[in-house]
Amino acid sequence: MPDYPYITPDHLSTAVILLDEGERVIYLNPAAENLFEVSGKNLLGQPLPLVFTDNGQLASAMARAADNNASYIEHDLMLTTNAHSKLHVRCTVTPLSTGRLLLEFHPMDRPLKLAREEQMLDQTQANRLLLRNLAHEIKNPLGGIRGAAQLLEQELDKPGLREYTQVIIQEADRLRGLMEKLLTPQSNTRHSALNIHEVLERVRSVVLAEMPEGLEIRRDYDTSLPALTGDKEQLIQVILNIVRNGAQAMHGQGRIILRTRIARQVTLFKKRHRLAVMVQIIDNGPGIAPELRDKIFYPLVSGRADGHGLGLTLAQDFVSQHHGTIEFDSEPGCTRFTVMLPLQAAG
Ligand SMILES: Nc1ncnc2c1ncn2[C@@H]1O[C@H](COP(=O)(O)OP(=O)(O)OP(=O)(O)O)[C@@H](O)[C@H]1O
Ligand SMILES: [Mg+2]
Repeated sequence: MPDYPYITPDHLSTAVILLDEGERVIYLNPAAENLFEVSGKNLLGQPLPLVFTDNGQLASAMARAADNNASYIEHDLMLTTNAHSKLHVRCTVTPLSTGRLLLEFHPMDRPLKLAREEQMLDQTQANRLLLRNLAHEIKNPLGGIRGAAQLLEQELDKPGLREYTQVIIQEADRLRGLMEKLLTPQSNTRHSALNIHEVLERVRSVVLAEMPEGLEIRRDYDTSLPALTGDKEQLIQVILNIVRNGAQAMHGQGRIILRTRIARQVTLFKKRHRLAVMVQIIDNGPGIAPELRDKIFYPLVSGRADGHGLGLTLAQDFVSQHHGTIEFDSEPGCTRFTVMLPLQAAG
């Protein structure tokens, strides 16, 4: 017996795919399932284009490796997954004596991803500070406005005029509620074991109740996902804000897909997690306006006349409190938000 642990490709963080002589998939390791956003079981025996789309670079690398009967490395390969993610990878193709081909993929955009995550963290902290300061500034004069409206109400002889003072009082109360929400310290969050599908189902029923005509919310759940530890109310708010944005962008007419998947060996904020839950919210609306794309997570940025521009800022803050990330890609006809939530503490 060797005195070192037995290591299989399942343990590797490099994505590995093994093809038979007919270039059909005979094996995919978990890192490949993760990278290409596919389930290995469904792909066994299938040709490579079912895993991703290649613009010809990989095919020629495979042909070279086979012709020379030697490993060939393509340093700068662009692939598109069937879930429409663009990947920049380095790929090594190794012909095996049996006529099979071994493909290894190393993602090239790690530094980019890290820079994005660091920027997100800075931005979340800056947003939080800005919102708290703003909430403080608004909350103080609100008390004065409300008190003055009450005094005024007592002095009014025509009862009909009270309608107006009541509007002032009620709106001041509503604003105070909102400000208190923004000022709630982080320690008020309650983390417990929760089922992400219960979160999604709650959001689904709320949004369908708000927009009953013309909106379809499809489920694409991986029901085998383990329980997550988190604050259920916060996560409902996160998903609700994203789904509502999609529904609003489509004026209630269109299709939203709620997708869950397990992700293995993911690195979030420099920490490696063995498992994470991936939630995707995909709509077929008009897409995020190009001029807003760089700043939709900033507070008070909105493309809607009646928007506060707070929904995504809060969503990002709550997700980062769960050590997770939130990203999007958008083009007309397909906007996809991806929320990654680690299942375990870093390890
Ligand atoms: N799925 C989407 N499709 C198109 N545009 C979107 C989508 N999601 C977000 N946006 C754009 O991003 C903007 C910011 O969203 P955010 O939720 O932060 O604020 P809001 O919806 O304007 O206001 P609120 O505070 O009420 O949520 C939106 O106004 C919209 O223009
Ligand atoms: Mg919103």
